[in-house]
Amino acid sequence: MRVIVLGSAAGGGSPQWNCRCPVCSLAWAGDPRVPRRTQSSLAVSVDGRTWAILNCSPDIREQIGATQALWPTGEARHTPIGSVVLTNADVDHVAGLLSLRERSGLTLWATATTARYLRQNPIFSVLADDVVEWRTIEPEAAFAPLEALSVVPFLAPGKVPLYAEAGEVETDRRTEATVGLEVRAGDKRLVYLPGCALVDEDVLERAEGADALLFDGTVFTDDEMMSAGVGRKTGRRMGHVPISGDGGSLEAFAGSGIGRRIYIHINNTNPILIEGSPERLTVEAAGWVVAEDGMEIVP
Ligand code: MLT
Ligand code: MN
Ligand code: ZN
Repeated sequence: MRVIVLGSAAGGGSPQWNCRCPVCSLAWAGDPRVPRRTQSSLAVSVDGRTWAILNCSPDIREQIGATQALWPTGEARHTPIGSVVLTNADVDHVAGLLSLRERSGLTLWATATTARYLRQNPIFSVLADDVVEWRTIEPEAAFAPLEALSVVPFLAPGKVPLYAEAGEVETDRRTEATVGLEVRAGDKRLVYLPGCALVDEDVLERAEGADALLFDGTVFTDDEMMSAGVGRKTGRRMGHVPISGDGGSLEAFAGSGIGRRIYIHINNTNPILIEGSPERLTVEAAGWVVAEDGMEIVP
């Protein structure tokens, strides 16, 4: 199995178009410690010829441009992308589908809940039904987005997409609105959880023994957006368990047996984005790698 991190940042990317938080300010200044990052997506392949995209970010066009394995080859129309798998219907995970509208055959895998959010919006019908096949995935039911690649979706603690929030929002419920993916090829197993509101026993059990865990690194501290003066929500309110603090992912996974542990879906306010920062050194000392765009992982 080959995995390429197409986009390592959370929604907004780094730097975010309208942000002057301390981390974005460094990125805007071109500080080499803070390379630019595009929004949340992975590409996975077994044979290196056909690829599945896990989440399809608004930056997909730029991501394909930066990743030669995803360029068309042969004559006329072609793409090495065979499938797109969605973990939720958040804008940063689905808006790129609109950039894949030029009539190449694709299979689009999503839970019934996620598909419903998309189908409610007529703009997604630009993915013509005669070329894009929508397939419903169900928790704990393995499916094969590519030959020789087996994926088991599982419910993850989370919430509905931001644009679907109404009234009192439950932020860490397990529903089909947010799934994690267990990805297997041969004897290798990767667990992908870009959105996870809570690390409980079930999450720990799922990650245990994985060759690689790609986990929600949205915020370092729960109140980071408030302290940076750029938001009013905590990480947990947004459906993202913080890295640090009580119940944070650093502490929760400390005793786990996991091959490679990698933070992805990192918000632009998160100081782990700064190479050499105390927060970056803290996660690295605990064995975590901070994902970068273009990083290749061979679990
Ligand atoms: C999230 O991960 O919390 C969402 O992508 C936020 C958003 O929709 O911008
Ligand atoms: Mn997101
Ligand atoms: Zn920022």
